[in-house]
Amino acid sequence: MLIEARGVTMRFGGFTAVDAVDLDVAEGRITGLIGPNGAGKSTFFNCLAGDYRPSAGSIRFAGREIAGLTPESHARLGMARTYQVPHTFTDMSVGDNVMVGAFLRHRRTADARRAADAVLERTGLAGQARHRASSLGTAGRKRLEIARALATEPKVLLLDEALAGLTATEIQAAITLVRDIHRSGITIVIVEHIMEVILSLADRVTVFHHGRIISQGTPGEVTGDPKVVEAYLGRSLERQRQRAAEASG
Ligand SMILES: Nc1ncnc2c1ncn2[C@@H]1O[C@H](COP(=O)(O)OP(=O)(O)OP(=O)(O)O)[C@@H](O)[C@H]1O
Ligand SMILES: [Mg+2]
Repeated sequence: MLIEARGVTMRFGGFTAVDAVDLDVAEGRITGLIGPNGAGKSTFFNCLAGDYRPSAGSIRFAGREIAGLTPESHARLGMARTYQVPHTFTDMSVGDNVMVGAFLRHRRTADARRAADAVLERTGLAGQARHRASSLGTAGRKRLEIARALATEPKVLLLDEALAGLTATEIQAAITLVRDIHRSGITIVIVEHIMEVILSLADRVTVFHHGRIISQGTPGEVTGDPKVVEAYLGRSLERQRQRAAEASG
């Protein structure tokens, strides 16, 4: 296993956001994480990527214990992540934002520039490389978030709602990009509310609810699991029905 999380727990005061989570991520796979708002998905990512030191538990990455190491060490070992709220340097150009990632592996500016240019090309941002990051729309900012992570040349990429807020056309383009990244040999863990994205990308899906895993399996297995339907899908279907009713009324 590329990632082996055992008993990962994150408490904030008396509140347990992630509660004894065991999760295996196989190398070369696309693993989906789903669950209602507040289920603990981002907090679990923060533990995996080193933004948080878990209150308890072990996280092994490529056989090595990493729980509590700095985000920088995680990045060096080959773990990259995107943030649900983009961590873009808005005053800098799109290209320079990607360079920040590229400097992790390339010390010379010319080398980092070359590596960043390749990532910009691959993520469809080459045309905007000189624009300020703040000039990008939602889809561009989400792509830049992926590009910055990709520039660190990771083994695994953790995507936290990297496709949220996109139009249907942009979602299709982003799915193609994620597939392309995966095909290049990068293992992917993806948190996403858009079921269409999870169903078309993930090999295996893990469902979080109240900080715990309530279901795991293929996309077909989990979406058919009554526990999941009750905790999550039922509610989101109910919301969609309400929205449709509001739109027509
Ligand atoms: N730094 C923090 N301090 C206190 N509570 C927190 C902190 N971060 C998250 N929480 C709480 O932990 C729970 C899990 O939050 P988290 O952001 O991990 O959920 P999520 O599954 O990513 O939800 P969403 O789908 O809305 O992004 C929530 O109840 C949240 O309010
Ligand atoms: Mg979240």
